[in-house]
Amino acid sequence: MSTVSQQHDHILILDFGSQVTQLIARRVRESGVYCEIWPFNQADETKIKKFAPKGIILAGGPCSVLQKDAPSAPECVFEMGLPVLGICYGQQTMVKQLGGVVEAGKSREFGRAFVDVIAHSALTDGVWDEGAHEQVWMSHGDHVASLPEGFEVIAKSEGAPFAFIADTARNFYGVQFHPEVVHTPHGAELYRNFTHNVCGCKGDWTMASFREEQIAKIREQVGDKKVICGLSGGVDSSVTAILIHEAIGDQLTCIYVDTGLMRTGESEQVVDLFRNHYNIPLIHEDASERFLGGLAGVSDPEMKRKLIGSMFIDVFEDCSKRVGGAEFLAQGTLYPDVIESVSFTGGPSVTIKSHHNVGGLPDYMKLGLVEPMRELFKDEVRALGRELGMPEDFIRRHPFPGPGLAIRIPGEITDDKIEILRKADVIYLDEIRKAGLYDEIWQAFAVLLPVKTVGVMGDARTYEYVCALRAVTSTDGMTADFYPFSHEFLGKVSTRIINEVKGINRVCYDITSKPPGTIEWE
Ligand code: XMP
Repeated sequence: MSTVSQQHDHILILDFGSQVTQLIARRVRESGVYCEIWPFNQADETKIKKFAPKGIILAGGPCSVLQKDAPSAPECVFEMGLPVLGICYGQQTMVKQLGGVVEAGKSREFGRAFVDVIAHSALTDGVWDEGAHEQVWMSHGDHVASLPEGFEVIAKSEGAPFAFIADTARNFYGVQFHPEVVHTPHGAELYRNFTHNVCGCKGDWTMASFREEQIAKIREQVGDKKVICGLSGGVDSSVTAILIHEAIGDQLTCIYVDTGLMRTGESEQVVDLFRNHYNIPLIHEDASERFLGGLAGVSDPEMKRKLIGSMFIDVFEDCSKRVGGAEFLAQGTLYPDVIESVSFTGGPSVTIKSHHNVGGLPDYMKLGLVEPMRELFKDEVRALGRELGMPEDFIRRHPFPGPGLAIRIPGEITDDKIEILRKADVIYLDEIRKAGLYDEIWQAFAVLLPVKTVGVMGDARTYEYVCALRAVTSTDGMTADFYPFSHEFLGKVSTRIINEVKGINRVCYDITSKPPGTIEWE
């Protein structure tokens, strides 16, 4: 499954559908160890041996091991002589599979809890002392009621007498709590102990090594062929392009398509970074007429996305001919886009999050894909950008979707609406920067609603558009919460937008989290 070099140590994480499995991967990688998340039902002995992990983590999940057809780890996991760490559901299935007992809890524990450490272990070494009372984060209904042979208790909590267990002879560990969340203050150190003390990983997976390995891989994959890379102006495609350019120089041509749906100043910034800062060949294609013409009269959000996707492909195709026949297309696809997630019922139905890149290329466009960041999380991409010497303000840019402002203008798109939205967006982001909040926020933007309302300005009646403001915090864009701006801040932005942007006379703030909302409005 991996394209990452075998010269580093690997940890395998088997997912049972928990919301926080990706955080486990983050903690493991922060300890300098490469890891991958696989659905529990996609792992077998042959695949695991090929991946050659030094240890396996069984992650959490929403099911109960007591229910019929509860998901379980492949038996080989316990027979390969590898260290195993079970987290929450992972602990329970390990206990059950090894002959212990799990019971439905009378007292469920959710949120902050405390454990008493009663024995020493390689996992707690230097982190938790015997006798300590430590904060952890629990989220469970069932709990372990009796241990399989060979296990002892390392720590217990009020609701979980077997909150932390170990079979040190076999290097099997199980915790009922979630060490990967920040509310378990020493959780990252516990993971580090697992990867380093228990599994014996060296912790030599760094961005510098990743950069070198990927450069070698790109050269091998591409040979002397030409590559085109669509730049969106976002961090992912920019880092992809810079890395590929380092590998194959001017065999790469970047294409920046001005769809007419970009924010104010966006095109200038991207062109300047690539042409002047990095000296990377760049086609700056002004396709605004094509895009805006193609979208005229279209108001259905899916139709907009489809049209935009196909127009991008047409433009790429034109450009690839112009560079003398490119054979590869580079994309900034990230790990969260390719992880196969386990369905909520824990059953075998596997969904792959449809990612937003130029996927689904038509057959006639026979371009191979170069996706050097398929194994990285967003913050790792940023670290790689730093490693590649990208300017910090570019690295910290909020994500901006490929369809651009089109999905921030619900309903039909017109030149007027785009202009109005651009002006409001600039003011909003300007105020966020001035307030020093930009880096605290995952993404902030204005949305122009297809609704007009009545207002009064001076002595005159107005009848103009409503602007919605959105700002969210998130770690990966998959879940998000609205940003709690002060009323004063919101008031200031609202006043500026209404005073300075002709066409808007009312401003609202979106306080929806994701789920149930999405980050974008379309
Ligand atoms: P949603 O709206 O699905 O967005 O909660 C999650 C993240 O993905 C971005 N996004 C897109 N990016 N093309 C893109 O390149 C798209 O069609 C697209 N739709 C959403 C969104 O901005 C957020 O960061």
